[in-house]
Amino acid sequence: MKIKRGSTRVAIICGGFAFKFCRISPLLNIVKRGVKLLFRNKLSSLPLYAGMRWNYFTRGLKANIYEYQCWKTTKASFLVRTYASFYFLNIQKEECGQELTQKEMSELVDAIGHKTKNIDYVDPHCFAPDNFVKNDRGYRMVDYGDRNSGTLSLNEFIKQSQREIASVLCNPKPPLD
Ligand SMILES: Nc1ncnc2c1ncn2[C@@H]1O[C@H](COP(=O)(O)OP(=O)(O)OP(=O)(O)O)[C@@H](O)[C@H]1O
Ligand SMILES: [Mg+2]
Repeated sequence: MKIKRGSTRVAIICGGFAFKFCRISPLLNIVKRGVKLLFRNKLSSLPLYAGMRWNYFTRGLKANIYEYQCWKTTKASFLVRTYASFYFLNIQKEECGQELTQKEMSELVDAIGHKTKNIDYVDPHCFAPDNFVKNDRGYRMVDYGDRNSGTLSLNEFIKQSQREIASVLCNPKPPLD
């Protein structure tokens, strides 16, 4: 079993699956801060802090929701399959392989940019090297939980240019799962 931590989710990888939980630390922080402030009689300053931590928590939830939506609507060959989503938890296929270097990632983004339009409108976080795995089937995206903070969502970008993106990432063409 391996545990890998992202900024908003924790992936527990075992038995060929990746169980991706939203981080609950922001909620625990709210409780801890609340107890501290209660004892100091300063509870009025809690809502601002709680709001910020709540936003952080919901980023993990949104990542899970958007990831599952993206899988269901595109089923793109370069996405690792997401089997199910329970909002708080996504169950994905484990993808074995190596992480990419920043240089490799930049080259891939350039190559995709040459074959597609609009990559500049997608949130650059979608193309962070640790969101991809490299193996003999090419490059697979393990984190496509876009928070829709770019002008164009990753989901829409994939719908527009799925074939072109696959021609860069999947080489040789992977068999269907
Ligand atoms: N299906 C998978 N197979 C293998 N490893 C995975 C899988 N999903 C996630 N991982 C690993 O777990 C790490 C954290 O997962 P993920 O990137 O989905 O979390 P996150 O919090 O959304 O990330 P970020 O910090 O980019 O917001 C990934 O960088 C990757 O190394
Ligand atoms: Mg990630």
